[in-house]
Amino acid sequence: MAIEQTLILCKPDAVARGLSGEIIARLERRGYAIVAAKLIVCDAERAKRHYSEHDGKPFFESLVAYITSAPTLALVVEGADVVDGSRVMIGATNPTKAEPGSIRGDYAQTIGRNLVHGSDSAASAVREIAIWFEPSEIVKRSTDNDRWLIAN
Ligand code: RTP
Ligand code: MG
Repeated sequence: MAIEQTLILCKPDAVARGLSGEIIARLERRGYAIVAAKLIVCDAERAKRHYSEHDGKPFFESLVAYITSAPTLALVVEGADVVDGSRVMIGATNPTKAEPGSIRGDYAQTIGRNLVHGSDSAASAVREIAIWFEPSEIVKRSTDNDRWLIAN
């Protein structure tokens, strides 16, 4: 078990549909902590850096257009093994395959409007957090209360 940070994006469809609060509430109920938050319209440069692994794929241009189309709520979320745990909460990339009870399984219909991003590995999280946040924008959190949440 490791205390990790991950980048979560409430993508433009989530913000526009008023689902940011629901997404944050689910993460907080799990016991994860929000340690940074920023509402921004992502520009193309940031979008292409963030999704650079998909550069050249058929959906890349539409993905960049989608993520730059309207405000995104970017979050840094901290918790025990939060990278994998939050990906399970988000659900499969294609909402038609996402389990009921997951965010995409409950609220999304199509892969092109799948509401949420979550980093897919600890290394991706470090890379992506640096794209969206300055270190000074991420709060240091007391871990005292974690003793009620996490068994070592
Ligand atoms: P994300 O990065 O947004 O958290 O999504 P993910 O890991 O579940 O999926 P990934 O493979 O990284 O794909 C990034 C985003 O690109 C869009 N996509 N469209 N075949 C397609 O049309 C297709 N494949 C991927 C989705 O919006 C996906 O979230
Ligand atoms: Mg991904």
